[in-house]
Amino acid sequence: YRMPDAYDIEGGVNQEKRFSVAMERYRDSKDGDKMNPFAEQEAWEDHQIGKATLKFGSKNKKQSEDYNFVFEDQIEFIKGQVMGGENADRKTLPVYPYRESLLQAIEDHQVLVIVGETGSGKTTQIPQYLHEAGYTKRGMIGCTQPRRVAAMSVAARVSQEMGIKLGHEVGYSIRFEDCTSDKTVLKYMTDGMLLREFLGEPDLASYSVVMVDEAHERTLSTDILFGLVKGTVSIHWFDPFILLFFQDIARFRPDLKLLISSATLDAEKFSDYFDSAPIFKIPGRRFPVEINYTKAPEADYLDAAIVTALQIHVTQPPGDGDILVFLTGQEEIETAEEILKHRTRGLGSKIAELIICPIYANLPTELQAKIFEPTPEGARKVVLATNIAETSLTIDGIKYVIDPGFVKMKSYNPRTGMESLLITPISKASANQRAGRSGRTGPGKCFRLYTAYNYFNDLDDNTVPEIQRTNLANVVLSLKSLGIHDLLNFDFMDPPPAEALLKALELLFALSALNKHGELTKVGRKMAEFPLDPMLSKMIVASDKYKCSDEIISIAAMLSIGSSIFYRPKDKQVHADNARLNFHMGNVGDHIALLKVYSSWKETNFSTQWCYENYIQVRSMKRARDIRDQLEGLLERVEIELVSNPGDLEAIKKSITSGYFPHSARMQKNGSYRTVKHPQTVYIHPSSGLAQVLPRWVVYHELVLTTKEYMRQVSELKPEWLVEIAPHYYQLKDVEDLASKKMPRGEGRASKD
Ligand code: CDP
Ligand code: MG
Repeated sequence: YRMPDAYDIEGGVNQEKRFSVAMERYRDSKDGDKMNPFAEQEAWEDHQIGKATLKFGSKNKKQSEDYNFVFEDQIEFIKGQVMGGENADRKTLPVYPYRESLLQAIEDHQVLVIVGETGSGKTTQIPQYLHEAGYTKRGMIGCTQPRRVAAMSVAARVSQEMGIKLGHEVGYSIRFEDCTSDKTVLKYMTDGMLLREFLGEPDLASYSVVMVDEAHERTLSTDILFGLVKGTVSIHWFDPFILLFFQDIARFRPDLKLLISSATLDAEKFSDYFDSAPIFKIPGRRFPVEINYTKAPEADYLDAAIVTALQIHVTQPPGDGDILVFLTGQEEIETAEEILKHRTRGLGSKIAELIICPIYANLPTELQAKIFEPTPEGARKVVLATNIAETSLTIDGIKYVIDPGFVKMKSYNPRTGMESLLITPISKASANQRAGRSGRTGPGKCFRLYTAYNYFNDLDDNTVPEIQRTNLANVVLSLKSLGIHDLLNFDFMDPPPAEALLKALELLFALSALNKHGELTKVGRKMAEFPLDPMLSKMIVASDKYKCSDEIISIAAMLSIGSSIFYRPKDKQVHADNARLNFHMGNVGDHIALLKVYSSWKETNFSTQWCYENYIQVRSMKRARDIRDQLEGLLERVEIELVSNPGDLEAIKKSITSGYFPHSARMQKNGSYRTVKHPQTVYIHPSSGLAQVLPRWVVYHELVLTTKEYMRQVSELKPEWLVEIAPHYYQLKDVEDLASKKMPRGEGRASKD
């Protein structure tokens, strides 16, 4: 293994020294039997105990108030620290000393921005404080999370702390999964779910407090929620749009409390946006972190990450702390897990046990708990995580962070309307958050698998908010169904590019969700009922016409699972591949194959054994069944009859095409494809049943960019369908095969931008 001196150390020595000096002072003060909270202030970087400051936004700098905490609480807090009772109980969390002052600040102000280091207890504690203070008598406390896993795991944690069953007083709600009941008063939910609730209840009448958590993540839904709740908590007298004005009055809720919480310091921006709302800062508790860079860029960051993890494990005593590795996605995490298992097996009993804990968005619930279990003595935990561990989840006991410097991020080209997931370098802000994860329980170390030069010169300061790099069709449809028409003047915190808005309007028009005046049509109103991408909801709405809604919702459910359906164990690859091919018999295309998987499973009465025999993930299938049940319920709501027509594959494929006609592609000579509307060279993903078949015309579900731009979930289509189904979008000349011969040279490159 590479030796540790392969890393440059930046600032480590100074911080270490500063810390030890401060720690000494702290110990002195303790020995003197007189607790001096100010000694501790210096013991932690950026630490300021004794006073929680309530600062007003930059527009209103002059006003400022200090909220003093209760001193007894403070002492207890420090005691908790000294006893090392990090996990001992709620009172040891950094937010605890500020309980009273925080509640006072919430009482005094309708909108409050709360800032505190990750792990300080914002998400798990603040809703409980509000509950204890009686807020839940007036309505629920809703706390939004950008990620499903975070919503579930935090709800589980809080119900455990309160000693009640998850789903009773404390519950969570994520897309396709509602774990709440009549009793629920603390509701953790994805920001997307609150957005959907907003559609049905624009004054948020069931809530007394809404906490938009992890606001710094600036997800699309969070940003849209901001714009919407702003209208709920304040009346904008100067709003030039009289319509919006009247709506705001109807929605106005002077009694609703709005909390915006964030782990990073750019809180002034939130404050400014919410008319100079005060900022409540929870003093952090962070130990120094030694930052190490590689001397030269890494060619293979995954390998470098694995080597670094093993090296730490082998050279450092096991009781000394766990390792957190940031990777970009499920596949990468699974690869890393396999390699790590293989290599540690190679080392046998010569090394301490290494417990590998993966965590990513689609990790099954029952496996999520594993990462929070304390590491047994003599062993070490290595957590392989996506960005979810950057701020949404806090895992105790991490001492080493390995940061390859990449994240999988959505990117969108408004010109072509194409969206893909790209592995992109992180921002400096992200890099610092990641590093900070190692300094929670003691001094930590962060290994950045990139050079100091890269960090200072190549990384952006902040991540671009999602709203500026995504397809907005879904959002535009939601806003339209809320009656918000003037999107260009919607109060966005950071407006999306006008081009992206226009593109979204264009797509919704093409899907017949909007008429030419930009108003919601009957079709659009139905589509808005489905918590799905507009193309997927259009496919469902169209199935009414083709009399195959039963089959289409199964396909839609299978497409919405988000994780893989087939698995392929290393030692049984041939069997697994054969089982998979069975469903593709007759080259029916991937959509029909998904339908066959679902129907066959249903025929066996949802048998688990059948899944094993066919190398299919039971969990994914169960999820598909849940999603399908909900879609069936929604069909009823939009008055689409459930009709089955399994024999008519053409009808099924026409329904698919009705939603996905903008995703059509024609084969070129060399097995590559060219998208019809905005010419770009793409390929059929090797996992597709049609990868060897190469039909002349295809419709695809999505594009993914790995080594090439791949189409995933592909079906064959007849070009005349395009003109039949979307005459306003395709003309005959678009689908004439002749056109391909006159293709200009070098178009592949030209379409790259
Ligand atoms: O929201 P914030 O980052 O400020 O902190 P939090 O999520 O409320 O976490 C507070 C504490 O609860 C941390 O020490 C976490 O390790 C712990 N926690 C946990 O053990 N299990 C969870 N599922 C969530 C939090
Ligand atoms: Mg949190």
